[in-house]
Amino acid sequence: MIEIPIEKTTQSKLSQVDFNNLVFGSTFTDHMFDMEYRDGKWQNPRIIPYGPIQIEPGMSVLHYGQAIFEGSKAFYTKDGRINVFRMNKNFERLNCSAKRLCIPDIEEDVYYTAIKKLILLEKAWVPKDRGTALYIRPFIFASESFLGVRPSKTYRFMVILCPVGPYYAEGFNPVKLSTSGEYGRAFQGGVGNAKAAANYAISLFPANEAKKQGFTQVVWLDAKEHRYVEEVGTMNLFCYLDDTLITPPLDEGTILPGVTRESVIHIARDMGIPVCERKIAIEELFDAAEKGTLKEIFGSGTAAVISPVGELHHKGQTIKINGGKTGELAQKMFDEITGIQYGEKSDTNNWCHYLD
Ligand code: COI
Repeated sequence: MIEIPIEKTTQSKLSQVDFNNLVFGSTFTDHMFDMEYRDGKWQNPRIIPYGPIQIEPGMSVLHYGQAIFEGSKAFYTKDGRINVFRMNKNFERLNCSAKRLCIPDIEEDVYYTAIKKLILLEKAWVPKDRGTALYIRPFIFASESFLGVRPSKTYRFMVILCPVGPYYAEGFNPVKLSTSGEYGRAFQGGVGNAKAAANYAISLFPANEAKKQGFTQVVWLDAKEHRYVEEVGTMNLFCYLDDTLITPPLDEGTILPGVTRESVIHIARDMGIPVCERKIAIEELFDAAEKGTLKEIFGSGTAAVISPVGELHHKGQTIKINGGKTGELAQKMFDEITGIQYGEKSDTNNWCHYLD
């Protein structure tokens, strides 16, 4: 196992945290993991106090965006243990994103040991209430000061932690979504299926426009025909049409292969619900809403967990889904996933990684 020295903080911020009002991503724990890539290898792994890092203005990530990240969660279970949900999936995806962005990959032992050691050090930061978790944000960025356009020769791999509540201000209540209009998130052959920082940067302007009109987020349609539903950027999307749960397929490489997405597919099949990964045209949803066959739409993501969609807007028309209320399937899915995460339901698929 890799050796990771720890430098402890002398000033913990823990007592200043209001665990009853956790705003997603705004509170960071006392320590972070840091490792550098130089001379062709990852080296100098360490856990140090959370704080500012030194950057040079010429650092290539600031100019060309060679950066990737992950998101997972640790849960305080009902028997007082800490479970990192499907940690292996995030590790695998990190290295897929790394490959696409020309970033050297991370060894499994390094990833697991870094996260495990960091969380065990920050054990007291894992929030205990249902609906809360310790969000884990591993990320890698190009750190060389060089302005030529080529892969950096140096990188930093860091992990930071945040105690969090719900991602959306709505909590588990239905969100309102609008389609992406003239904008696109991803194209075939691009980086839509990688967790590249760039995917989130380009989502900001359309998301802001949608927010100004009262929507929570944007539903991205395919960038070519602006017709097929892809994802929400912060979550994957599921449509419960007739008696089938449908989600857009991953084969065109324009959709993030979400860990919660995969869990939803698995759980739905276990529940005996037919699941189909196929293209969904936006007009199909509007037609189904008119015919009364569109039962539910919900999103899935690590941060969002399961997020019911109450309204969908497209080109001046709006449909209300399930009367704007949380659907039965979204509720069941939420209960099942969170039940496994908090150790209340049996983990028949070995999705829980207990740290102690
Ligand atoms: C996640 O669900 O973990 C994400 O990374 C989405 C968002 C918070 C960026």
